[in-house]
Amino acid sequence: MDNFSYFNPTKLFFGKGQIAAIGEAIPKDQKVLVLYGGGSIKKNGVLDQVHAALAGHTFLEFSGIEPNPHYETLMKAVELIKREGVQYLLAVGGGSVIDGTKFISAAACYEGGEPWDMIEKGITAGRALPVGCVLTLPATGSESNTFSVISHVGKGLKRAYGDPLTYPAFAVLDPQVTYSLPRHQVANGVVDAFVHVMEQYMTYPAGGAVQDRYAEGLLQTLVEIGEKVVNTTDDYDSRATFMWAANQALNGLIGQGVPQDWSTHMIGHELTAVYGLDHAVSLAAVLTHNLQVNREAKRAKLLQYAARVWNINEGSEDARIDAAIAKTAAFFESVGLKSSLKGLGIEAAAADKIAGRLETQGLIALGEHQSVTPAVVSAILNHSLA
Ligand code: NZQ
Ligand code: ZN
Repeated sequence: MDNFSYFNPTKLFFGKGQIAAIGEAIPKDQKVLVLYGGGSIKKNGVLDQVHAALAGHTFLEFSGIEPNPHYETLMKAVELIKREGVQYLLAVGGGSVIDGTKFISAAACYEGGEPWDMIEKGITAGRALPVGCVLTLPATGSESNTFSVISHVGKGLKRAYGDPLTYPAFAVLDPQVTYSLPRHQVANGVVDAFVHVMEQYMTYPAGGAVQDRYAEGLLQTLVEIGEKVVNTTDDYDSRATFMWAANQALNGLIGQGVPQDWSTHMIGHELTAVYGLDHAVSLAAVLTHNLQVNREAKRAKLLQYAARVWNINEGSEDARIDAAIAKTAAFFESVGLKSSLKGLGIEAAAADKIAGRLETQGLIALGEHQSVTPAVVSAILNHSLA
């Protein structure tokens, strides 16, 4: 296991009725901007709960943050923050609203010109406004990690940004707010969380015994509850398990001291930028094909995954690996997502197009061994298209 330092400063308020906690979590003397998306929080009563909790605060609102948040929209919030002297941001929504708000928190403090440069050149703003979150869609872990994924519509790009300054100060996780999610968004959340664990686990043995067992526990838990959370809207216990698992999948803990992959995500972000696929839909169409194409480099971990996550212990090594990959694809399909680009009806030209886009951005050595070159990306996508 490699050396690491780990500190996650996000305070979590988990459970029923916890939205009320934001009234105390945000200092009363701070001018607050509440940021949200297309309005789901108006229909399901979450915005009313936020208003009640903020009764003692001065606050403004900014709505219309899109799924795969647009840089252009976020810059309008930055203008509002500067004009109104906003001091504290409260994101109420899924990963897109939270990611967008985290990026805004840094962009509002950036003094170097165009905030997109922070993403493009990996620059820190040096300062960020404090962010609180009310999570409404378990999936990304954004509510307690440092990442934001932002889409620049003008440039046709979707890029990740990370800065420890943008860790949320707190996040409210009330599983009841997920009851209003459409079925396909629940499926997206289950698959996104599953793939987050896989990106940090499915590499090569590196002495991370605790990380491995924890990752395997999260994967098994997501498999256990997947169909239930997709098919039942108001079962508190399964929604609570789902919300906690998605948080733990990408709050940074299981990836400490071990190699990570993330090539499925990098390929997926390009598929979203070009074909408009939901984030998790892109991942479900790539992951198992990535595992097939890179099965030699991942052989030891694939065998461990087969045995410990899927209880596959019989047959030759190759047969066990094939069976574990098939189980993974069947799991994605069981919650309603397609496990291939072919299933999604994506054009055959996608393989070279996506590989070319990654190459143009200099993303030519992905994966835990930096061996996922544009040619390998193309092979993965052709496997998914076949
Ligand atoms: O905009 P509203 O009206 O709120 O509707 C949203 C949106 O249309 C709806 N929704 C959310 N909560 C709801 C609800 N509808 C009914 N009831 C609720 N309780 O769901 C739709 C999708 O929301 P979105 O936030 O886009 O989904 P998700 O949480 O899956 O976030 C996806 C974004 O996160 C990025 C992705 O790339 C994508 O841009 N990611 C962020 C990561 C991170 N910060 O660490 C890592 C991930 O790998 C991922 O890349
Ligand atoms: Zn993801």
